[in-house]
Amino acid sequence: MTRQKGRLGILCGGGDAPGLNAVIRAVVLTAHRVYGAETVGILDGFSGLLRERYRHLYPDDVRDLISQGGTVLGTTNRANPFEVATEDGGTEDRSDEVIANAREAGFEVLVVLGGDGTLMIAHELSRKGLPVVGVPKTIDNDLRATRYTFGFWTAIGTATEALDRLRDTAESHHRVMVLEVMGRHAGWIALHAGMAGAADVILIPEIPYVPERVVEEVRARRSRGQAYSIVVVAEGAYPVDGEKSYREKDPESGAPRLGGAGDRLVEQITRRMERVEARCTVLGHLQRGGSPVPIDRILATNFGERAAHLALTGRTERMVCLTDGGAIDDVDLETAIRQTKLVNPEGPLVRTARSLGISFGDRPPGPPDPPR
Ligand code: F6P
Repeated sequence: MTRQKGRLGILCGGGDAPGLNAVIRAVVLTAHRVYGAETVGILDGFSGLLRERYRHLYPDDVRDLISQGGTVLGTTNRANPFEVATEDGGTEDRSDEVIANAREAGFEVLVVLGGDGTLMIAHELSRKGLPVVGVPKTIDNDLRATRYTFGFWTAIGTATEALDRLRDTAESHHRVMVLEVMGRHAGWIALHAGMAGAADVILIPEIPYVPERVVEEVRARRSRGQAYSIVVVAEGAYPVDGEKSYREKDPESGAPRLGGAGDRLVEQITRRMERVEARCTVLGHLQRGGSPVPIDRILATNFGERAAHLALTGRTERMVCLTDGGAIDDVDLETAIRQTKLVNPEGPLVRTARSLGISFGDRPPGPPDPPR
């Protein structure tokens, strides 16, 4: 590879999100056009640094990437260099090797696109001497330091379209249709899609629900002549007297995987309402794929552009973000990754939803108290 004025390494870690390619494109073009610097893509997250699997990214490689979902670099959530799996079933710390490889490849700075887990690894590597710049990525939109993450609005679009389609068939068959969406700790996707798709009930991890309250809502609708109901449930939602629903274990880490929140709700409804037919649709990874919507493309482009500037002017150990006022900014990486953003059960979005008659499964049907 011929050296230009500076060389960046860029990688993606954790689950993908629509807009990753738009970030990569913006980093490459800004680095090249503004600084005459080159960008090298690292394949499949930190494992690409361990195995020295790189791909040079020239401007012509990325110009058309803005509309593509996924990531051309590949990603994984199983490549923590501080805990690399060994043959005997244990783990070993290979972070020194990763840092040595990055130096050997001439990466002056590593631009890391990832969620809290990936950015935590990036922060640990930077403490050991590898300069990094973080770009927050999660469709769950649950990082406090940034108003929105790219990919979130694309996921909302997918979930809202699913709700619209479910409404058609729910109405025809007089059924209760339950849509399970992503959201381990935070109910942002369920809340936004539920509002955009006019759900009757929204269940989120921040507001544990009472099954009987959900049933009361369905009954109230039926007594008003609305024989069908639409429920959206975050995968991390749980009943007040229960726990989150887990389905299977990750084959490598053994960590439990969420799953079954929607099916459990269907069972809770049908047990209490014998003559009502309830069905569950799990939207799953459909929410993570697809071409990013324009707002995600623009956010991702702004994030990538700023990340390139930070990296090439030596302002490292920073994470790019969107402020509450809508400005592109950057914050201290270590502080940023420690703060999760949850839905405020008393906040304006939940209040608006309640005013319109959407139930969160925690209160009896009926008008809410007016705001004080
Ligand atoms: O990106 C976050 C997330 O979408 C979570 O909401 C979900 O639980 C998880 O990723 C699924 O990840 P995986 O593809 O590794 O199962």
